[in-house]
Amino acid sequence: MNNDPVQFCGLSRIEEAARLIRAGEPVAFPTETVYGLGADATHPKAVAKIFAIKGRPAFDPLIVHAASEAQAVSLWTECPEPARLLMENFWPGPLTLVLPKAAGVPDLVTAGLPSVGVRIPNHPVALDLIRRSGVPIAAPSANRFGGISPTTAQAVAQELGEKVKLILDAGPTRVGVESTVVTFQAGTPVVLRPGGVPIEAIERIVGKVRMHNASDDPRLSPGMLTRHYAPATSLYVLRQASVNRWSSAIQIPSGKIGLLSYAPVKVPPGVSAIEILSSTGNLVESAAGFFQALRRLDAAGLDALVGFPVPLKGLGRALADRLERASAGQARLESGKLVLQSAS
Ligand code: TXA
Ligand code: MG
Repeated sequence: MNNDPVQFCGLSRIEEAARLIRAGEPVAFPTETVYGLGADATHPKAVAKIFAIKGRPAFDPLIVHAASEAQAVSLWTECPEPARLLMENFWPGPLTLVLPKAAGVPDLVTAGLPSVGVRIPNHPVALDLIRRSGVPIAAPSANRFGGISPTTAQAVAQELGEKVKLILDAGPTRVGVESTVVTFQAGTPVVLRPGGVPIEAIERIVGKVRMHNASDDPRLSPGMLTRHYAPATSLYVLRQASVNRWSSAIQIPSGKIGLLSYAPVKVPPGVSAIEILSSTGNLVESAAGFFQALRRLDAAGLDALVGFPVPLKGLGRALADRLERASAGQARLESGKLVLQSAS
């Protein structure tokens, strides 16, 4: 008997996972974005186990994963034209649509909200699991609440350990950041969370979208907490104004400092670790490696991390959002010295 919860997913493993889902037990599975912790979305007791395993507060709604458009649409009471267009263009894929929920969707899934977020993931294992389970699968990212999202099965095991009975392993996820979450207000698309589908791609299909921001109704996106995706090591985001003055002559504060950048940067003496997400500054490549790099830096026994800001275009918006939420404060240059400042 192999008791390791991480199992490379041959068909028999997927069938075993589907059996667990049907029996009301959560399992971890790969999607194209991050690994999810899934349970039968129609079964409140199964869904409650997700919240317990993650330590997730009940006000944070879950995304429901469907294997077909018919299954997805059955979870809503309406589907406006712009939503149809987005489904046609981006499903299966990293786009979650939030619309008024059908009566059969338990309140626990939506944290009591009248709407439910649904997506069809673009991953053969996820799709096979949903089909074999015969039910839609509610799944948040498979990390402890507030922690770094897992993009490998090993990261899931690190995050959740023995609390989860089975982790289907299909290697590192391709996209690396979570889905873009979109809702509709008076027919206008509103982006609640930037993610794997760039805003520019969405706007090419449905025209100008609105970005949800903090001054909007907080009930619209209760899960968008300011601090999230946080490493245990304090991360400071370098101010844009300091980026232009960055050089290899900068004085680094005492202690072990790690750098995280989407593109190559000059490395001053005294830096203990560095993660360059893409040698060409490619934002798709950067997104794919982001959470793993953050996890490696967090495990390296450093005193502080400094993240370079990311351009706000394409997948850069999702990366900038995750970086900001992971951060404990800002870093800036003052007379050639790097200064780390915790947010008050
Ligand atoms: O790519 C993804 O979306 C991954 C994979 C596993 O599919 N899932 C994921 O789930 O990122 P999670 O729980 O980490 O993020 C779900 C977020 C919530 O925190 C909230 O911001 C938004 O999606 N959301 C879900 N349902 C919503 C609703 N009814 N209204 C507003 N926002 C909602
Ligand atoms: Mg999450």
